[in-house]
Amino acid sequence: MIPDKAPREDVYLVHDLKKESHVPSFEKYKELYLKSVENPTEFWGDVAKGYFWKSKHTGPFLDYNFDVTKGKVYVKFMDGATTNICYNLLDRNIHEKKLGDKVAFFWEGNEPGDELKITYRELLQRVCKLANVLKSLGVKKGDRISIYMPMIVELVVAMLACARIGAVHSIVFAGFSAESLSERILDSQCSLLITADGFYRGDKLISLKVIADDALEKCKEKNFSIQKCIMLKHLSKECSAPSPALGSQSPPAKRTCPNLQQERKETVKKARPLPQIPWNPEVDLCWHTLVEDASDECDPEWCESEDPLFILYTSGSTGKPKGVLHTISGYMLYTACTFKYVFDYQPQDVYWCTADIGWITGHSYITYGPLANGATSVLFEGLPTYPDVSRMWEIVDKYRVTKFYTAPTAIRMLMKFGDEPVRRFTRKSLKVLGTVGEPINPEAWLWYYNVVGEKRCPVVDTFWQTETGGHVLTPLPAATPLKPGSATFPFFGVVPAILNESGEELEGPNEGYLVFKQPWPGVMRTVYGNQERFETTYFKKFPGYYVTGDGCRRDKDGYLWITGRIDDMLNVSGHLLSTAEVESALVEHEAVAEAAVVSHPHPVKGESLYCFVTLKDGCEYGAALEAELKKKVREKIGAIATPDYMQNAPALPKTRSGKIMRRVLRKIARNERDLGDVSTLADSTVIEQLFQNRCCTV
Ligand code: PRX
Repeated sequence: MIPDKAPREDVYLVHDLKKESHVPSFEKYKELYLKSVENPTEFWGDVAKGYFWKSKHTGPFLDYNFDVTKGKVYVKFMDGATTNICYNLLDRNIHEKKLGDKVAFFWEGNEPGDELKITYRELLQRVCKLANVLKSLGVKKGDRISIYMPMIVELVVAMLACARIGAVHSIVFAGFSAESLSERILDSQCSLLITADGFYRGDKLISLKVIADDALEKCKEKNFSIQKCIMLKHLSKECSAPSPALGSQSPPAKRTCPNLQQERKETVKKARPLPQIPWNPEVDLCWHTLVEDASDECDPEWCESEDPLFILYTSGSTGKPKGVLHTISGYMLYTACTFKYVFDYQPQDVYWCTADIGWITGHSYITYGPLANGATSVLFEGLPTYPDVSRMWEIVDKYRVTKFYTAPTAIRMLMKFGDEPVRRFTRKSLKVLGTVGEPINPEAWLWYYNVVGEKRCPVVDTFWQTETGGHVLTPLPAATPLKPGSATFPFFGVVPAILNESGEELEGPNEGYLVFKQPWPGVMRTVYGNQERFETTYFKKFPGYYVTGDGCRRDKDGYLWITGRIDDMLNVSGHLLSTAEVESALVEHEAVAEAAVVSHPHPVKGESLYCFVTLKDGCEYGAALEAELKKKVREKIGAIATPDYMQNAPALPKTRSGKIMRRVLRKIARNERDLGDVSTLADSTVIEQLFQNRCCTV
């Protein structure tokens, strides 16, 4: 599967890293890889030796079944061992590795000059305080806690406080709507919500608490009540003065440990409107008041390896999001190990991942992986284009970032502005550049490599999913010769295969379904509350394999190239959306009888949404209705799902059995007349009408 020799032509290999690298050659990668797949117990057992276990595993080191025809699908790593992931990330690094005074995060706010830093020791104190608060509110091991917060240090504090007491966090990206938040709270029956007053994204105010309250109302309509909602004041950070909105909960005058928000240094303070904070004294609690008197010591709850760590929702092709469940030990080992090797982590590194913690990339590669390694990271609240398009490179120079991880959509967007905004800053600290979230086109890859990295920095194109927990196909920076646009080879412990429609494994250069043949520690364990959906989605199509839902090509040198989703999902700016999810939002509008959504290529976002809508009799299509429909989708899902193109479709192309022919709609959206076989079409006159009505802005 992996070639003996790396190819010589058309490849990029940077030699500067070899001296300090964990894996300095392709041969070394191959040696470690073979060990990891032939003897996973020994390989992961060695990784596990670096972490703290309260007690040893009681079952086999690895136990699993990937074959639905043989019974329940399950994966267990180190079953029965007891540990605590928060202890391993913080206490172990502070006490064993003596990293207490090392900076865990440099936080950089939306506004340049708004910043703070926090050491490992301070982070532990704050986590313990909140953990004690959660316990005092009755939160117990296994309880689900919903977190809906901006990109601030307290988001990390909240997730680790849950992990410390064995509670299961379910973080909802702060760009999601009230409807999406309520759907996620309901699905995992969360007992408590942690949120903030609001935040600014560039110039735009997001009133999180208002949206959170709306979500809680929607839960009530479905007969479910959250018991408590903790709100952090991020925008109105002065907590010493009693806030009228907080009613009687004015914080005590004397503080032993000032709140983090007050420690922010703001060199340039911008006058900004503050959000309205609706307050319900029966449910709402002020974060600052609660943590004020809480102890900054909290014994960790010793949990078992396969106890749940978190739930993170990802789009599902049926339209209903799936609660991907990850468990403690396997996820810890895998995120720690991938972080170490894929970014070739060294103790003096300053690492920066630009993702939001609300997505899996932020979970694995802002919080868990970097902290497990004792790394120093930048945590950025803002946007790459605010206040100008140099912001990223300014931050790179400011903190002397060595390892940088972002998404192809951000690279393509910045590329539009040319090289000058990049060259304004030196970027000389950079050593490794990473990408994630969607296929990267070679043009963007080369710009990232040549202009941003000045040919000094390897680009690691990491392919993975919410479900995989961590990188599964990826180069290693000093070992793998790179081909622009290829995620290259599997990470340790991962065994990919390419299958044809009949489920046969294809050898050599070929294209088909990307699957994995055996588990690695970070693979998801189930869909929360729905084992059947877990098995149907990932294991039914090809029994014995984990099915990614992505297509993949293997070239003559054995390199793997992701060709994109092969189900009804699309990837907008690195965010997966299901067409069904958007269609169901559209048909909720009273004027819409039917809707079909397809993917349309987009120069910056990768893909965009093209919607065909059929109106009910008597309803009229026009700009006002289009605006209403876009708003409807934003309200139901969030701004990331806003359709780019919308077209009136008096009728949709359907087969005789009534199935919408999306393949044909994709061609119409792209104005491609070669429709392939349309013999199953019930009424072919529909097609010409749709070509005539094409959305004129495409
Ligand atoms: O289609 C693949 C694409 O993103 C999907 C996973 O999305 P999500 O669960 O939201 O996680 C995104 C961050 C890990 C995959 O099924 N994808 C992710 N990374 C790449 C990619 N496609 C091509 N190349 C990548 N490097």
